[in-house]
Amino acid sequence: MEQLKDVIKMDDWKTEKHVPVINLAKRKVKKKEFFEVEVSVGQSVAHPNTTAHHIRWISVYFLPDNEPSPYHIADVTFNSHGESVKGADTSTVYTNHTVKVEFKTEKSGTIMAASYCNIHGLWQSSEKIQVV
Ligand code: FE2
Repeated sequence: MEQLKDVIKMDDWKTEKHVPVINLAKRKVKKKEFFEVEVSVGQSVAHPNTTAHHIRWISVYFLPDNEPSPYHIADVTFNSHGESVKGADTSTVYTNHTVKVEFKTEKSGTIMAASYCNIHGLWQSSEKIQVV
């Protein structure tokens, strides 16, 4: 039976434009202090942002070390890709596919991001953080 994990793709963000890139100002964060996580798609190779082809959403998760399931940190849906009452690619309004979110934790772990392209499907990446 096909499973979701079998169709979520991973690759090197430097050459593959769909991979969500997790940018951390610091990899060592302090207990009980909020820190910022930025996730963007197409950081090295730009992804199209048109009515026909765009990034629809990014989700951010955090898996503390030695826990069985990730916490769901945030979802952002990108809803403007040039469409208007005149049709596809007729407006000047475009959402940029970047997310900035803050959270705090008392455990080290792994930040995970997923993104969805309306043409090329699901992509993921992850980055470790250390809580000191
Ligand atoms: Fe795409």
